[in-house]
Order: sequence, then C-alpha cells, then structure tokens
Amino acid sequence: MKEYENALTLWNDWFNNATPQAIDEASMGNTTFDNAIANLVNGATRILDFGCGAGWASVIMAMLSDNQQIVAVDQAPNSINYAIITAKLSQQDGKINFVVADDTYLNNVRESSFDAIFSSNVLDVVPEDITQRMLNGFARVLGNGSKALIMLNPYIDSEYAGKGGFIEFQPNYFQKDGNLRIVNKTDEQWVDTFSRYFNVARIEHFNFEGENTSRPRRLFTLVK
Ligand SMILES: C[S@@+](CC[C@H](N)C(=O)[O-])C[C@H]1O[C@@H](n2cnc3c(N)ncnc32)[C@H](O)[C@@H]1O
Repeated sequence: MKEYENALTLWNDWFNNATPQAIDEASMGNTTFDNAIANLVNGATRILDFGCGAGWASVIMAMLSDNQQIVAVDQAPNSINYAIITAKLSQQDGKINFVVADDTYLNNVRESSFDAIFSSNVLDVVPEDITQRMLNGFARVLGNGSKALIMLNPYIDSEYAGKGGFIEFQPNYFQKDGNLRIVNKTDEQWVDTFSRYFNVARIEHFNFEGENTSRPRRLFTLVK
C-alpha cells in the first residue's frame, strides 16, 4: 500500500527533526495508563516494545523494575537513534536493547522469548496484512499465559477526520498528505482482530492531560 510506504518515510523523517529529552519519572501522568504498564511489567523480565518510536515506553518500563531486559524495535533508523539518546539521557540505556527492524524481526526470535509485549499506536497505522503478521508474531514470541498491552489512538468520527484533514481512501483507512495515518476500527472490531490470536482480558479508556475526553485512547490487555 503506497500510503503505508509513504508513512514509513514520514516516521523516519520526523525523528530526524526532533530533539531527545530525558524522561525523569516512570509516569505519563495518567493513572489508568500508569497502572496498566506497571501491571504489564510486574514480574516480567523479558519485554518487547514493538514499534517503539521515541522509546518513551521502554524507558518507563526500564524505570519500573531492576531486573528486566527490554528489546525496543522500530523500522525507522532515526527513531532508534532518537530512542538510544533518550534512554541514555534518562540513565536507562543499560536495560534496553534497541533494534532497527520491521515485523520480520518477529520471525527470527525464538518462540516464547518474551513474557510481556507493549505496542503503542502501531497496529492502528499499518495495513491489515501487516497487523495480522504482527499479531501472529506477538503470539508466537510471547510465553503462554503472558500479556501484551496494546495502546491505540481514539476512534474518530467523520467530522473530526474532516477537520483534521484526514481522508478515508478505503473503508477505515485514513491518509493525510498521502501518508497512512489512521486505521479507524471500533473497540469491537479490534476485539475481533485480536481474538484470532489472544484472549482479550481487558479494555480501558483514558486520555492524557489536555486531550478531548470525548475521544478516548484505548488500552487492550491481551493474554496468550
Ligand atoms: C505512530 S508511531 C508510534 C510510536 C510509539 N510507539 C509511540 O506510541 O509514540 C508508529 C511507529 O511504528 C513504526 N512502524 C511502522 N510499521 C512498522 C513495522 N512494520 N515494523 C516495525 N515498526 C514499524 C514506525 O516507524 C513508527 O515509529
């Protein structure tokens, strides 16, 4: 899908123009999110942050416990460079292994290599065949009974899409400036997608400070 190919360049370019900052506490300032990520890493030692972007979640997870190894993967080389500096500035680089790779990375990892997976705003910006490949890979590399925490952007209506300049080029798929930006599934549609691979244990809604509460972010806790 050309809109997705364009978006891969967009993510990489974005990190080229941004300045990494230290993260100084293991909190995003929202109790629902903070509790969910703390529950995810509680007792986990091998953690995957897939599509890590700036690396903020890996740094928070590293801060939450002493004896973890985190693998942070992103296809964008500039995002990984940015995340490495963020982790160093935050004094958490020793616990995080950063990898430039796309979802084919998951094929090269042994089964049940991880006991927690975090992925934020990745499954909702990729085409459906890649979503299926990622979920299949997550299910393969996660140990039985272990959890994945999937954070997704809000479901949007056509009024919001129009105001933001997002154009629906095929059902549920929105582009802006030619870049795939939103795969707009309802909670029920995501549950259907996840249920092929996982038990959906929990769905939570929340907003970070200053966000419009009529469009909540979604957190899905999946259990293998
Ligand atoms: C919207 S950003 C989210 C970044 C970060 N997780 C966050 O929440 O801030 C989507 C990220 O997914 C990465 N990505 C997209 N497709 C990918 C793939 N097939 N394999 C690995 N990373 C991918 C992009 O490079 C980008 O950094």
